[in-house]
Amino acid sequence: MKLYIIANRLPVKVANPDGTFVFSRSEGGLATGLDSLQTSYEKHWIGWPGICTNKEKDKVEINTKLEEMNFHPVFLSDANIKNYYEGYSNSTIWPLCHYFFAYTLYKYCFWQSYQEVNQLFCDEICRLVRPGDKVWIQDYQLMLLPGMLRKKYPDLCIGYFHHIPFPSYELFRILPERAEILKGLLGADFIAFHTHDYMRHFISAVERVLHIDFKLDEVQIDNRTVRVDALPMGINYELYHKASYKPEIKQAIDRTRKLFGNHKLILSVDRLDYSKGILHRLHGFATFLEHHPEYHNKVTLAMVIVPSRDHVGSYAELKTKIDEEIGSINGRYSTIDWTPVCYFYHGFSLEELTAMYYVADIALVTPLRDGMNLVAKEYVATKYENTGVLILSEMAGAIVELTDAIQINPNDTEQIENAICQALEMPEKEQKERLKRMQAILSVQTVNKWATDFVNEMNTICAKNEWLRKK
Ligand code: G6P
Repeated sequence: MKLYIIANRLPVKVANPDGTFVFSRSEGGLATGLDSLQTSYEKHWIGWPGICTNKEKDKVEINTKLEEMNFHPVFLSDANIKNYYEGYSNSTIWPLCHYFFAYTLYKYCFWQSYQEVNQLFCDEICRLVRPGDKVWIQDYQLMLLPGMLRKKYPDLCIGYFHHIPFPSYELFRILPERAEILKGLLGADFIAFHTHDYMRHFISAVERVLHIDFKLDEVQIDNRTVRVDALPMGINYELYHKASYKPEIKQAIDRTRKLFGNHKLILSVDRLDYSKGILHRLHGFATFLEHHPEYHNKVTLAMVIVPSRDHVGSYAELKTKIDEEIGSINGRYSTIDWTPVCYFYHGFSLEELTAMYYVADIALVTPLRDGMNLVAKEYVATKYENTGVLILSEMAGAIVELTDAIQINPNDTEQIENAICQALEMPEKEQKERLKRMQAILSVQTVNKWATDFVNEMNTICAKNEWLRKK
């Protein structure tokens, strides 16, 4: 029997640099976590291969190669990408769920395309799924899919994990399609969120929009029980914690140390996104430099921004503002031998990134809203008998577990400034104690445990539903 993992993107990058297709596995947290999931089910993925093509010949070639890896592509057209991916997913749902109400666009063609693409995914699952198989759907791009599948297969075991915040009812109610989205989600047997608050907001939205009452964490829909839970996603702890012992990472650590000299290094790593509070972080750092000349030429902020969704207007505008702000800080404070903000607008290999985590004295993580934030966890995990301080926004889901971080409200520039000072002055002993306490949590709540817990809980509720059906 098979476990189908359904996500907008397959965990593989398909590129076509010179007329031939090149396939590379992506190292995202979800993919590594599910790889290590021990289950008697054969694991298969269904998702978009990240490339658009109209040629049947190309589709066949990509499909053949991917199916060897148990990956089943759903091909999307340019119009789907514009209206489903950049449109409804990332210009309607994403800003709404991250409390960026003013960025939310409502266009009927977005909604139509979202329905169409969810149906495409449904068709591909229906083509493949057999009795006894299980389906685990990931994230906000596919919220109608559980309901569509339920209509086709009343007995199918379906789980859904929501990787981004679920907003308060007062915000969610604004969405014109709020009822359809909730009904879609309730097609699943099991629905989980990173935090208890997101789960609470979801329950409240269901009760108030659909007028159906939950009993604690369960609700009855058509002789079926739907259960909800909070399961915070973790990381592959061992991969990061043992990294500094690997020869290739040791070399990367030496290179990184040489690059930043004996400056204190503050690190930030994000996808380009307005929800990440990148401008707030830059304002905080600029204020710190303004008020603390004693740290000039002693502290560098290394800012890694991974390009993302840059065809969406709000993302393109943000990029321009970030470039301007960094230019302004560096223009004002740089000297011949010091550039205060070292800016990288591209991704790094896992080796290079881990080396930066290891070397950085401070990680500055300032999202205005974030479902979880795995960077904060990866930074803490990578420290191995060395020091480091995590500054973490109270708006990130990760704050529930990482209470030994210095907590900040990213809207408070003075707090960011003070947190940087506190981190720079924190005694080594305290740094190590805080890291140890956070590592104790991360080493237990791994991504493997998250996936195992999800599948076990999904199986339990599916078994109960099967029993109810046979009764
Ligand atoms: C967030 C979302 C994921 C998404 C990822 C990358 O983490 O929760 O569902 O895959 O961002 O975004 P992208 O739009 O590049 O797939």
